[in-house]
Amino acid sequence: MTQVAGAESATLSDQAFQRIAKIAISDAGLLIPPSKKALVQSRLSRRMRALGLVSVDAYIDKVESAKDVAERRELISILTTNVSSFYREDHHFEHLRSHVFKRFEQKLLAHERVRIWSAGCSSGQEPYTIAMEIIKNLSLSARSDILVLGTDIDPAILERARKGVYSEAETSSINSDDRDRLFVRQGASFHACEKLRSLVRFRELNLHSTWPMAGPFDAIFCRNVLIYFDDAHQKALWPRFRSKLTPDGFLYLGHSERIHPLEKSGFISQGATIYQKAQ
Ligand SMILES: C[S@@+](CC[C@H](N)C(=O)[O-])C[C@H]1O[C@@H](n2cnc3c(N)ncnc32)[C@H](O)[C@@H]1O
Repeated sequence: MTQVAGAESATLSDQAFQRIAKIAISDAGLLIPPSKKALVQSRLSRRMRALGLVSVDAYIDKVESAKDVAERRELISILTTNVSSFYREDHHFEHLRSHVFKRFEQKLLAHERVRIWSAGCSSGQEPYTIAMEIIKNLSLSARSDILVLGTDIDPAILERARKGVYSEAETSSINSDDRDRLFVRQGASFHACEKLRSLVRFRELNLHSTWPMAGPFDAIFCRNVLIYFDDAHQKALWPRFRSKLTPDGFLYLGHSERIHPLEKSGFISQGATIYQKAQ
C-alpha cells in the first residue's frame, strides 16, 4: 500500500479505511461511513504529503503507536467537518431573545452568573453570534458576570475561533449595522471587536472525555456535532448535558438532531430542536 509522494491522493484500501474509522470512533465518537472513503483518502493524502510519507499503512502505524499522540490528534482534526456560519438556524437565537434573555437579565441584576456553552463551536461563529445577541439585548454593566464558553476537539479550528477574523462572505449573514458596530474592518477581513471577544472563552475539549468545567450552564448549544457520532456516543451525552444545565436550562441541537428516546431523558421538548431540562 504505497503512494508516490506528491501524487494526487493516497490509495486507501478497505482495510486501511477500517483502521482509520476505528480510531475515529474510539477517540472522538466519529462515525465514518464507507461512503466517506474518498473524502478521507483526499484529506489523508494532504497530511501525508505534509509529512513526506509515502505509505498509508506506515502513516496509520505512526498514528496507532503510543508514542505519537500528537499525530493521533492531528488525524482527528483532519477528519472533522468544521462548516459553520453566523446566525445559523436563527430560530434558536429568536428563542433566546423571546424566552431566555429575560431570565438572564434577572440573574445578572441579582448579581448571579450566567454561562452559555457552545459545544463543538468550530471556527467561532456560534459563540460569537450568542455574544452579539447578549450585547444587543441585555443591559450589561461592568459587574455583569456573563460568559460564553466555546469548546471543540480540533485545536486548529479553535486557533481560528480565537482570532475571530472572518471574510466578507462569512459575515454576510450578520446584519450590516451589527457588523459595522461589532467587527473592525481591516482590508477584506472583519475582526470581532474587543467587547465581543471579551464575552467568549475558547477551550479544547473532546465531548467524550471528562468535562473539567464546573458549570452549571444556563444554555448549551451543541448543534451539528452529534450528527457525526454513532448512536451510543450520542446517547451517552444526554445525561451528561443534563447534569451540566441549571434547573431550567436549555439545550439546542442542530436541525437534523434529536434527543432519542425523549421519554426518560430528563428533557422536555420546547420546539424544533430546543429542549429544556425537566424537573
Ligand atoms: C459542523 S461543526 C458545527 C459548528 C457549530 N456548532 C455550528 O452548528 O455551526 C462540528 C464541530 O464539532 C467538532 N467535533 C467533532 N467531534 C467532536 C468531539 N468528539 N468533541 C468535541 N467537538 C467535536 C468538530 O471539530 C467541528 O468543529
